[in-house]
Amino acid sequence: MPHLPFAVHVIDRFNRNAYTREVEQHFRIRHDIYVVHRQWLDLARPDGREVDPFDTDDAIYLLGLEQGRGVVAGSRLIPTEKSNLFKNLFPHLAANGVPVGHEILEWTRFFVVPDLRGVQKSSLAAGIMLCAIQEFCLTRLKTALIVVCEDFWFDRLSALGWQPRRLGAPGRDGAAVIVGLQIRIDPEALECTREYYGIAGSCLWSGRPSERI
Ligand code: COA
Repeated sequence: MPHLPFAVHVIDRFNRNAYTREVEQHFRIRHDIYVVHRQWLDLARPDGREVDPFDTDDAIYLLGLEQGRGVVAGSRLIPTEKSNLFKNLFPHLAANGVPVGHEILEWTRFFVVPDLRGVQKSSLAAGIMLCAIQEFCLTRLKTALIVVCEDFWFDRLSALGWQPRRLGAPGRDGAAVIVGLQIRIDPEALECTREYYGIAGSCLWSGRPSERI
C-alpha cells in the first residue's frame, strides 16, 4: 500500500494469536488516550491497559499498523447479538430498543494517536480508519453500525454519506452531549469517504499477519 502511511489489520478470535503484541499495545494506547488525555476516569486501571467487559473473544479489532511503529489507530466492532456497550450501558439512548441483528455491528473505541491527528480538519489517518470500517463491513455483508458517540459526529458522518439516524433523544455523559446512532454501510458511503479524504483503493491489509513487518 505505497500511497497510504499504514494499512488496517482485521483481528478477531481466529487470528488474534498472531497479533498478541499489537493487541496489547492497543490496550495501552487506549489507556493513554481515553484515561490520561480524555479523562474518562471510569476506565482507569492500575495496569495501564484500558480493557472493558466487551473486550472478549467476540470483539473484532481494526488496527492501523505503521511499519516499525505498530499501532497508530484503531476501532472495535462487536456483534450486536452479544453484550455491547450500547445495549448494556446506554439502552436509554434508543427509544425503541437497541438494534440487534447479524447484519449490525456495534462500533466503539475509534482513535488515532495524537501526532497523526489533523489540525482544524480531520486527518488522513482517521479517513483510513473510516474507509477500513466501511470496507470490512461490506465484505462481511453488514448493513449497519450502531454507536454511542458525541452529538457532533452526526454532522461529520452525514458529510461522509454515512446517513446516520438518531435512535433516541440525546443524553449527557458528564459535560458531553451523547447520542445513539445507527449508521448505514454501503458502497456509496465508502466511495464518498474515499473522495473526502483523497484515498484511492483499499485500506485493509491484504497479506498474512506474518508479512506485516
Ligand atoms: N469538519 C470541520 N472540522 C473538523 C472535522 C470536520 N468534519 N473533523 C475534524 N475537524 C477538526 C476538529 O474540530 C479539530 O479542530 P482543532 O484542530 O481546531 O481542534 C481537528 O479537525 C481535529 O479533529 P479530530 O476529531 O481529532 O479529527 P480526526 O478525524 O483526525 O480524528 C478521532 C478523530 C476520534 C480519531 C481523534 O480525535 C481521536 O483519536 N480522539 C481520541 C479518541 C476519541 O475520543 N474517540 C472518539 C470516541 S470513541
